[in-house]
Amino acid sequence: MDDDTSEQAFAELQSRNLGGWGLAQIGFGTGLAIYAMWVGILQPGFRKVPLKLQVPYIPASKAQVDNVMTLLKGRNGGLVDLGSGDGRIVLEASRRGFSPAVGYELNPWLICLSRFHAWRADRHEKVSFRREDLWKVDLTECKNITVFLAPSVLLVVTECLLDELPDDALVVAGRFPFPDWAPCRVEGCGVDRAWAYNMQAQRRLGVSYIPLPCVITLIA
Ligand SMILES: C[S@@+](CC[C@H](N)C(=O)[O-])C[C@H]1O[C@@H](n2cnc3c(N)ncnc32)[C@H](O)[C@@H]1O
Repeated sequence: MDDDTSEQAFAELQSRNLGGWGLAQIGFGTGLAIYAMWVGILQPGFRKVPLKLQVPYIPASKAQVDNVMTLLKGRNGGLVDLGSGDGRIVLEASRRGFSPAVGYELNPWLICLSRFHAWRADRHEKVSFRREDLWKVDLTECKNITVFLAPSVLLVVTECLLDELPDDALVVAGRFPFPDWAPCRVEGCGVDRAWAYNMQAQRRLGVSYIPLPCVITLIA
């Protein structure tokens, strides 16, 4: 195609009126591509999980990871991230000495990505990522647990954690707090905030309280 012809074709394309049918086709194609990405990449493995318990992949920000790690300071032993996404919390926990550091994740693509990140960070022998439904994980031996899940799901997870975790376990929630629990510490602000919960205290305290730093942030 010489220059004149290509310029002509480009001008024709620019001047062409798409019309209603053309716009509908573009809309349908875009919708289909988004749906395919959702089903094929973001949601595989979730077919057996009821819709109201499905949580989309939204990775923790750098500030969120830092806040979670601050709340875990002074703790040791193993750590479990329920719904580990691309593995960033598990990797950081492993860097800070938690061992074993384990992530449970249903999405196979995210498990692959987590393993790739672990391999790139030369930590593949120190962490593990398991493709398992978090509702089926045995938590009876877990001492440090991190969760970054939707509020509706946290309500249900509460029951599992209360049933299974030992008294000396610490649960750290990112982005959303547990609706009915009383945090022992809160770190960060806004969407980056993280909450720590002492299991023994949850079992002893029937009533929730809001710690002072949190009240100040809420008022401000
Ligand atoms: C909001 S993301 C958090 C990812 C990671 N924890 C982080 O902070 O970066 C929630 C993750 O939980 C996973 N997830 C949701 N329901 C799950 C289930 N029933 N079992 C295992 N993983 C699940 C999702 O695939 C998603 O990657």
